[in-house]
Formats: sequence, C-alpha cells, structure tokens
Amino acid sequence: MNQLARELNAQLEGTVIARLLSGYGLRSYFPKGIVAQSAEAKQRADRYNATVGMAYSGGEPVMLPAVRELLPHFTPSEAVAYSPTPGNPKLRDLWASEIAAKNPSLGQASHSRPVVTAGLTNGIFQLAELFVDPGDSVVMPDLFWGNYRLILEGRNEARLTTFEFFTAGGEFNVAGLAEMLERHRENGKIVLLVNFPNNPAGYAPTRSDADRLVEALRAEAEAGTDLLVICDDAYFGLFYEDDTFTESLFARLAGAHERILVAKVDGATKEDYLWGMRVGFITIAARGLEPRHYEAFEKKLTGSIRASVSNSNTLGQNLLIRLLEHPEYRRQKEIQREEMLARFRAMRQAIASMPGDTPLRALPCNAGYFVSFDCRKLDAEQLRLTLLDRGIGTISIQNRYLRVAFASVDRDEIEPLFGEIFDTARELAEA
Ligand SMILES: Cc1ncc(COP(=O)(O)O)c(C=O)c1O
Repeated sequence: MNQLARELNAQLEGTVIARLLSGYGLRSYFPKGIVAQSAEAKQRADRYNATVGMAYSGGEPVMLPAVRELLPHFTPSEAVAYSPTPGNPKLRDLWASEIAAKNPSLGQASHSRPVVTAGLTNGIFQLAELFVDPGDSVVMPDLFWGNYRLILEGRNEARLTTFEFFTAGGEFNVAGLAEMLERHRENGKIVLLVNFPNNPAGYAPTRSDADRLVEALRAEAEAGTDLLVICDDAYFGLFYEDDTFTESLFARLAGAHERILVAKVDGATKEDYLWGMRVGFITIAARGLEPRHYEAFEKKLTGSIRASVSNSNTLGQNLLIRLLEHPEYRRQKEIQREEMLARFRAMRQAIASMPGDTPLRALPCNAGYFVSFDCRKLDAEQLRLTLLDRGIGTISIQNRYLRVAFASVDRDEIEPLFGEIFDTARELAEA
C-alpha cells in the first residue's frame, strides 16, 4: 500500500471512518504529484510558474476571444481554468454556511468542509468507491432512484437490500428499516441510503418519522453496528406540508452516535435549478470526529475524485458563487418554490377528484418533483406505453408503479394531464 495511504489510515485509526472504508477506500490517497506541486507553486513561485497544464498569457489563462465574448461576466480564471480537485475553496465555505442556515438542528455538531463533486451522481459514486466492497449490503427503501442500482450493484458489486417504503397507514416504514438493519449487519457494518424528498415517491419524513428514524439508527449503533448513512438530498427544500421535517437527516445524525457516519450528498442541481452545471457536494459527520479525521478523509476523497473526474466544472462553480451572493437569489428561489407548491396543490386536487373505480392508488406525497401511483393489477409499463401513444410521457418502475413529474409540467396542464392518466388507466383495467 502507498505510504501516503498508510499515513492517512493511521490518522483515521480507531474512527468509524476507518472501520467503514472499502478496500479501495483504504488504498486511496492524494499524491504529491502535479496538482499538489502546482498548488505549492501558486503560493511560492513569484517569478515564473511553469507547473500547470494550461496555456497562460500575461498571467491569465488563455481564453479565445469568442469565448470571452460569450462569457462577458467571468474572468478567464473563473470561466476556463481548472478548479482545485476538492473544489473552489470559496464555494466550499459558502456551501457550508448554506448547510448550516438550512439545517438549524446541526447546531455545533462537527462536520467536514464540503468537497465539490461533478454533480450528485458523482458524489454517490465517490462514496460507493470509498465505502462499498463487493458483496456488501446497501439498504434502502424499495422505491429508489434507478441510478443507485447502476452505481452500487453494477460498479461496486453491492447487494441492494430493500424494505417496503410505507406502512399500510402511509407512514415511513421505520420498523421495516430496523428489521432490515438487524438482518443485514454483516461484520458489524451497514450502509444505508436515504433520499428525501424521494425520487420516485415524492416523500419526505414528517417530524415524527424523522424522530423515529433517528432513534432506530441510534439503537442499531448502540447494538454495536457501524453505519454509513448516505443522505441524497437532491430535492432538498421542496417541502409542501406543515408537518414535514424540513431539514436534512444529516443535521439530526451528525452528532447522534460515534458509530453513525453520515454523508450528505447535495448540490445545485435541483436546489438551485442548475441541472447541467454539474456541481454537487459531499459533507460527512460523526460524533467525536476531529478536524484531523475530516482532513484525512478529505485527502482520500480528493484522491478518488482525481482518479475519476479529476476536478469539477469551473464555470458551474463560479456561477454558483455569484448566484449565492446575488441580492435577488433568495427572493427568486422563493418565487420558484411557490410555483412548485402551486403545482403540487394542483396535482393533489386532481388526485382528490380521481374516479372511485380507478385501478391506481396514489402513494403518499408531500415533497419534491414527483408523485407515483401503485398500478395494482394493471401493468405499469403497458399504461406508460398507452399514455405515450396519446402523447403523454411518464415513467414506469418495476412494472408496478407509474411516476409522474408534476414539477415538469406547467400548472394549467396538471388537471388535464392527470385526467388523461386516470381515464387511460380505467380503460386499460376495463379492457
Ligand atoms: C434522487 C436523485 N439523486 C441524484 C440525482 C442526480 O443529480 P445530478 O444531476 O447532480 O447528478 C437525481 C436526478 O434525477 C435524483 O433523482
């Protein structure tokens, strides 16, 4: 094993991070190669800096005149230069402040400095690399974003282990989760992946769900299991009901237990309507971890980023900095949130007037972009294809659920859209 990896492992010894790392996670390190030497030169080479693989002219990265013309508000460094592998330092600190402001329950709990990833997908990918070994169980509710399978099962050879999302009463199934944790604690380790607001279920925990969830995880940790809880907070902020827990579970778990390592994966993708900019973040926390532990983990994560995407989109990062500092940012975001809420309400109203004899059953929905229907005896894929023949695009999942992104259609289209879905489902059920 590389000496630098050994040193990082020694720095992490005795912590939940060390106990949870995968084989690759143990081997990972950030070399003192080109990137580190260039960073040193940036500080000290005040005569000539001939380190980095970028073309410079007059001390600025070269930017073709046409690009300059297209991006008049950004300097060459902000637009076309490489960013540091763990991300723009200013953005990392701004995002840490955003996390603190949006999650008051975090209080004084220690956590790492957010590291920039190439979107949330890449954040999940990096965590899977660092913490999941072939054969490991990764526990999650049975409705989940399909890309988890592609990453965790396809690349990391994990076993996805699911429990029913909802109880018969429509609450988050904490008992099902607790049972699954108990059954799948292998070698004292469990990885749990939660995504609230959920894709495809459009659900975020109520305050009492969140309390029960935290208690179940704490009980599992008390029983001696080391847990990595990955919180995919892609749709954070889109909460529509009064009793919803409007913070990330990360905030509640950060100081919960020495055996609970929580990793928040979030970003500008959906929160700031910057889908294609590819700016995500990873922030981790566990009770008792100290700055030196977070720094050692950051080096391992930085090594993994360097080995995969090298670094993340500079223009996207600088655009996000400018956006977060823009005087109109919060107001504009609130206006858009109001619009999403109006679409949610229109969807709710459409479902309330769903015909009594419909084969569809709407799953609980209080947040995010989506609502899903259990198609029961109907084949969801057949329903999707029939809708497609009528010019309506939806997503079928496991041949059982139909996912409808109410966030992606205009408000006045919601009533006719759902009306057609209900009519088509009834016709198919009667055929
Ligand atoms: C639950 C969830 N996580 C992550 C993502 C992807 O985020 P990004 O585009 O930043 O990779 C999506 C996108 O659909 C998602 O639904």
